[in-house]
Amino acid sequence: MEQTLVIIKPDGVSRKLVGEIIQRFERKQLTLSKLKVGKMTRALAEEHYAHVKDRPFFEDMIAYMTSSDVVYLVLEGTEVIKTVRKMIGATNSLEAVPGTIRGDYGSNSFQNIIHASDSPESAAIEIDRFFN
Ligand code: PPS
Repeated sequence: MEQTLVIIKPDGVSRKLVGEIIQRFERKQLTLSKLKVGKMTRALAEEHYAHVKDRPFFEDMIAYMTSSDVVYLVLEGTEVIKTVRKMIGATNSLEAVPGTIRGDYGSNSFQNIIHASDSPESAAIEIDRFFN
């Protein structure tokens, strides 16, 4: 069964949205396979965001992602990667469609509540990165 990695970011955790987010995935019949709460280390954050290391927001992004607890989920289901990406909405929460998680709760591109893998290749790497 296909798997994807989801991270509920510090704004999602501090705003007490974890239960609401998991409920949305369960109502969509996706299976919660793994769950972990904790602070992301700087080393793992730098690895996870290496593809945007030259962007001006990189340092602020690392500081934000390591500032307090995040929740890591592994979800399973048919076409789960595509389904979850649709359910979370566009990166910029201001452009995310209402009804998506970012569209309903996110503030901007930065505090956008949630991350989800964008391809089978990144899902495999990201699950190994945070649940190895
Ligand atoms: S790219 O190059 O923008 O397409 O990269 P992407 O894979 O979408 O990852 C961008 C991640 O950086 C976070 N971030 C921002 N993106 C764009 N603009 C601004 N200003 C910005 N600030 C932070 C964004 O939330 C993406 O994080 P993830 O965790 O992958 O959603």
